[in-house]
Amino acid sequence: MQEMTILGTGSFVPEHILTNDDMTQYVDTSDEWIRTRTGIVNRHFQDNGSVLEMSVAASRQAIERSGIAKDQIGAVIVATFTSEYATPSIASLLQRELDLPANIISFDLNAACSGFIYALMAGAALLTEGRYALIVGAEAVSSVLDMSDRNTCVLFGDGAGACVIGKGHKALYQVAGCQGDDEVLVARRNDYLHMEGRQVFKFAVKTLERTLNDLVEQAGLSVEELDYVISHQANYRIIKHVYEKMKIPAEKFYMNLQEFGNTSAASIPLALAEMDQKGLLQNGMKIAMIGFGSGLTYGGVLLEWGK
Ligand code: UT7
Repeated sequence: MQEMTILGTGSFVPEHILTNDDMTQYVDTSDEWIRTRTGIVNRHFQDNGSVLEMSVAASRQAIERSGIAKDQIGAVIVATFTSEYATPSIASLLQRELDLPANIISFDLNAACSGFIYALMAGAALLTEGRYALIVGAEAVSSVLDMSDRNTCVLFGDGAGACVIGKGHKALYQVAGCQGDDEVLVARRNDYLHMEGRQVFKFAVKTLERTLNDLVEQAGLSVEELDYVISHQANYRIIKHVYEKMKIPAEKFYMNLQEFGNTSAASIPLALAEMDQKGLLQNGMKIAMIGFGSGLTYGGVLLEWGK
């Protein structure tokens, strides 16, 4: 358990929207297949592939909403596997673009779709009194998509979400793990993303349920006491399977994959920022966020909302 509070959230999604019908230009698919198998209706593509641009926009918003001064930021972590740079890190470039202090620790982290959760945990461990951390999940998944592979190209989208965290009195419960695998979900350098959908599906439903149970047990809560669960937004059928099995009301599982598709490390912070902006998050609410994906990685955090 660590102590942490989220002070502000931000998000950015590219303007270029591709509908399910647009995807039929590339592959033999249909709006009906994509909607019923995944719940996805639209996705947004960052045509220049810049993870940095998206990260800058989401981070600016998060810092502004947090109410802290930029020179109080002591760490920047960007979760991504689709950076346009092998080096430097997007986090290092955020230092320049956002005019952050030079004495910060900055790095990118790749835990695929669990990346934002891993970054939150890492960021929480780096917090000191009066110094905050900027945590970003940002992806241009479109840059690694094979637009002739219907098994993958219809599923993913681009975007960025960010938050500013600080030390607080709120407990952060966390669960994480991985099982080394480079077959079921892999993008080698200079190659497209490949996925064995059914195998990932099985991993996802099992992991989501187990992680949720582990988190509430650690926090001494029951699942009924959770106000919201923000799952990685991969497929509404994964989420539905879990809330039905665990008998949790559907409305506690926030979903925005209809509009953005699977944005990998950006999916959870994008949902969090959207919920924050809609005023859904009230002080004292108990929120679980759970990611799963390539690695195969998984990670979950449970926190109480509010400063
Ligand atoms: O972010 C990391 C985590 N990723 C995930 O969690 C993804 C998990 N997996 C899934 O969400 C689902 O497995 C998919 C949405 C990827 C696929 O759904 P599925 O129900 O598992 O379909 P399937 O792969 O078993 O394919 C069923 C059929 C196949 O045709 P045949 O062999 O039955 O003739 C596929 O070729 O659907 C076909 N198919 C498509 N048809 C139309 C696959 N993709 C498409 C498509 N349009 N886009």
